[in-house]
Amino acid sequence: MKTGGLADVSGALPVALHGLGLDIKLLIPGYPEVLSKCRDTKPFATLDNPFAPGDVQLLESHLPDTDLPVLIVAYDAFFNRPGGPYQTSAGSDWPDNALRFGLLSYVAAWLGSSGNTSAWQPDIVHCNDWQTGLAPAYLRFWQGRKARSILTIHNLAYQGVFGAEMLHALQLPPESFKLQGLEYYGQLSFLKAGLFYCDRITTVSPTYAQEIQHESLGFGMQGLLHERRGVLTGIINGIDNQEWNPEIDPHLDKPFTALRLHDKAQNKSALQQEVGLHVHAQAPLVAIISRMTYQKGSDVILGLMNDLVREGVQFVLLGSGDKALERAFRELALNHPGRISVTIGYDERLSHRIEASADIFLMPSRFEPCGLNQMYSQRYGTPPVAHATGGLADTIVDATPENIAAGLASGILFYDMHFHTVIAALRHAVHLYRHDPNVWRQIQLAGMAKDFSWQNSAQEYLKLYRSLDA
Ligand code: ADP
Ligand code: GLC
Repeated sequence: MKTGGLADVSGALPVALHGLGLDIKLLIPGYPEVLSKCRDTKPFATLDNPFAPGDVQLLESHLPDTDLPVLIVAYDAFFNRPGGPYQTSAGSDWPDNALRFGLLSYVAAWLGSSGNTSAWQPDIVHCNDWQTGLAPAYLRFWQGRKARSILTIHNLAYQGVFGAEMLHALQLPPESFKLQGLEYYGQLSFLKAGLFYCDRITTVSPTYAQEIQHESLGFGMQGLLHERRGVLTGIINGIDNQEWNPEIDPHLDKPFTALRLHDKAQNKSALQQEVGLHVHAQAPLVAIISRMTYQKGSDVILGLMNDLVREGVQFVLLGSGDKALERAFRELALNHPGRISVTIGYDERLSHRIEASADIFLMPSRFEPCGLNQMYSQRYGTPPVAHATGGLADTIVDATPENIAAGLASGILFYDMHFHTVIAALRHAVHLYRHDPNVWRQIQLAGMAKDFSWQNSAQEYLKLYRSLDA
């Protein structure tokens, strides 16, 4: 169920870990798409739903096209409904989210507890984001055998905060509702529950692991995270090298490699035609693919487009999110036909074609736990221009004179998130692209040569799991 990068990670990391020999099963709610794509299910277990009438079926299947076992939490009244996983089609949160993700957490904890009498007894429950945050809390308070727990933060901005009255409904003990617990300014926070009660905390880049211990990016959790820094690590995400491989990408007009970089040109002209830009080989083409939110700096992008277009730059943007931003981008595109192309929506195929065809990839994120597009773009010979924060700082080597001389530069970073620093960095990239083709090519090739595969990170997770044995 893809709404962002967590889906890419959930689809690739467990497969990599399985490849290392781990006995691992992926637990996922029975959303309509999950039920229709995971066929050949067999019953794994049946539990009473602690929060609503009837039984919850746990069904076992496989992640499509892999041999990774998947356990599906099948409870139709909670999960098998049209709309998004977290929100209605109109964009408001589902009113029963506390119970829906309480159930997901509950089942995860149950698997790691003595309630689970099946032959498969996990030693570790590895949770991701607030939706699974109650699992470590249940494990902490239940009696009997229990698995160790890890919580991975993909985005601290989403915390799953609900009214205090949910404590009872979610069968959490009253003693959990305190500062040293899951209470958050008089409310109940799923994320805080996870962060407080889990055995290990990870996040998706080393830089973000540091940043979240401070007020500016801690989203209120900085105190707790700093206190728990001894069990907090940052492990950078990898990317799926098969899915994102310019040599065999079925979505491209002309697949290419580092040795045939000139073939990018054919993709560029095809894309310009497809999205209604003037077909112009020399015009620097800047790409943006992202959720339109404050996090991603969409407002800053909106503000700089006019200036850059006047300097002969083209923009191709794919994204959706904040309705006011969507409207503003659409309007800007109407004012600059042939120079700014805006596609509102979610389009996997187009995202691959944009990564391959653009010259520069823009990511002015205010914060970015990891970010995946900057890795995809480097792999496709499209150097990123990005804010040196979180995973962007950890995966992009800035084009300083020293890094260029050493052949390491793979993009352009700016260190302060201001309108003028973003525009200066973008102009720097455009200048190199236009007037220093050898250096530009070297930056492209350095990015393409980088290893962003999951192998190294999967090993890091394995080490972390082993450390829980002690
Ligand atoms: P986040 O998870 O914060 O949104 P990431 O960079 O980790 O950011 O991951 C975003 C993922 O979603 C990437 O795979 C990106 O290509 C994809 N994506 C975002 N918006 C769109 C869109 N409109 N169409 C297609 N893919 C998109
Ligand atoms: C979140 C973050 C993003 C990260 C992704 C996967 O959505 O915003 O930076 O890459 O999770 O970990």
